[in-house]
Amino acid sequence: MGEFYVPISIESIETNIFPDVALYLKSGTNYVLYKSHGRDFSLRDAERLMENKVDFLYISPGDQELINEFMESNAERMLRDEALENRVKGKIIYQTSVNFVGDIFDNPDKVGDFDRSKRLVENLLLYLSDDKQALSSLETVMTHNYHTFVHSLQVAALSLLIHSEAYLLSRSEMVDVGIGSLLHDFGKTFVAPELLTKTGRFTDRELNILRRHPEEGYKFLKEKTRLSEVSLSIIRNHHERNNGSGFPQGLKGTQIPRSAQVAAICDLYCTLTIDQAGHKTLPSHFALHIMKQEMKGSFNERLLDILEILVCAEDSRPPLL
Ligand SMILES: [Fe+2]
Repeated sequence: MGEFYVPISIESIETNIFPDVALYLKSGTNYVLYKSHGRDFSLRDAERLMENKVDFLYISPGDQELINEFMESNAERMLRDEALENRVKGKIIYQTSVNFVGDIFDNPDKVGDFDRSKRLVENLLLYLSDDKQALSSLETVMTHNYHTFVHSLQVAALSLLIHSEAYLLSRSEMVDVGIGSLLHDFGKTFVAPELLTKTGRFTDRELNILRRHPEEGYKFLKEKTRLSEVSLSIIRNHHERNNGSGFPQGLKGTQIPRSAQVAAICDLYCTLTIDQAGHKTLPSHFALHIMKQEMKGSFNERLLDILEILVCAEDSRPPLL
């Protein structure tokens, strides 16, 4: 989503290996140049900004691709660094996620929803920095397969946005939903990376292995962590379908916990519209058409309507008559 200035946490700019790009300060709704291309960003700069409680600088939309590449190759290393505090790690994940959350939306006219989803993820990660188990589970996903990690961030952002539209949830329920969505594919960390990145047709054996991930993720995290029932149910049930055609249990309708119904929708929507390399593939209204018409009965229709309002550009929706 090229139209937005992207926040970058001061901690990651400080690393000396950050690409040489212009950095901006946010002032109200405007962005003011802080450092031009070619000028160093010193430790003193970082200190001064942090003294003034500035946590983020911004990069212009044109530099986003460069920064995405940088984050992809360095976020993993930074998260593994035991010297970094969890608070800083949370910020780095937030920043990485913000870079990708925009891909969920079709169009810059969705700026309000984009801002809301960023805030929701920001709140979630603020909480996550105090939750060692959840944070380290997310690191496991990230280090196993970067695409699964990015996909999970997108699913979490969208799922929080839909929950905030569809239900009145307390902060702690929102956190549970967010953590469950972030870790929905945790079971894929038990699948060989070659299989996760394979393109083309899967053999029956490979499909069976892939289809075990909801149950395996659920079992592992239930045993090893204190994740809530809501979070665990998202992990276990995000491939269930309203009409009973899903897996692992073939649950139907209201047998499927509502947060898992939302996660199922967000998971497929993100898979249809964003490819493994992070590029937008299908336009949103196309994905919605597939989910509403070709897969009729698979999803809760009210939730699909909410998704459509959130992600599709006004003028891309077919006329009512
Ligand atoms: Fe999955």
